[in-house]
Amino acid sequence: MERKIEAYIFDMDGVLVSTEKYHFASWKRLAETLGFSIDEEFNEQLKGVSRAVCIDLIVAHGNLQKSQEEKDMLAAQKNEWFLEYISEISQKDVLQGVLSFLQSAKQKNIKMAVGSASKNAPLLLQKMGITHFFDAIVDGNSITNAKPNPEVFLKAAQNMNVSPQKCLVFEDAQSGVTAAKRAGMFCVGIGNSEILSEADVCFPGFATISIEKLEDIFSNNTCG
Ligand code: BG6
Ligand code: MG
Repeated sequence: MERKIEAYIFDMDGVLVSTEKYHFASWKRLAETLGFSIDEEFNEQLKGVSRAVCIDLIVAHGNLQKSQEEKDMLAAQKNEWFLEYISEISQKDVLQGVLSFLQSAKQKNIKMAVGSASKNAPLLLQKMGITHFFDAIVDGNSITNAKPNPEVFLKAAQNMNVSPQKCLVFEDAQSGVTAAKRAGMFCVGIGNSEILSEADVCFPGFATISIEKLEDIFSNNTCG
């Protein structure tokens, strides 16, 4: 059966911009002030999930007991460092191939949304000067359930008035890929295909992705 993509939904951190390294640096710094360390492997669990879930995971990883008030303070400290790290971000930090991909999709009138767990998404999109590309922005401020819950992507589809089956999600996090699949959407993993094994297809980044290539893969996929 011929299928057609009507909308693209982009995760932000690690898909549009390489801010994952700043999230990791801030969480690592926080863990170190608490007396332990975190590595890249543990960090895979932090990708895509909300700030509140991240702090729970960090505290549990360090075998610590913290009250909600203490966790809120720690999360606020992490965000303060994160905001320092991203203060200089601009369009030059948009990941390779992303800008021309967004331009081509816009020319073809494909609807586009951002579906991000980050409460900093509007600020970052504005700093990069790419807000105008998107018909909908659903971020950590407008959802109650963190990825792998599909809420963020279902809301983005609803805001664009497109059925989930006609949406394609770009994701770099395991939790995000699971969320996309639970939403009934086709999912393009950005990064390592072994880590993102649930994705329908994986690419290292937008430098090797084209709309034509995606349409080909999507229309020939019968199980996505
Ligand atoms: C996701 C990132 O996009 O946003 C996570 O992958 C991050 O690493 C989460 O924790 C929440 O971001 P923020 O900016 O609201 O703390
Ligand atoms: Mg991400």
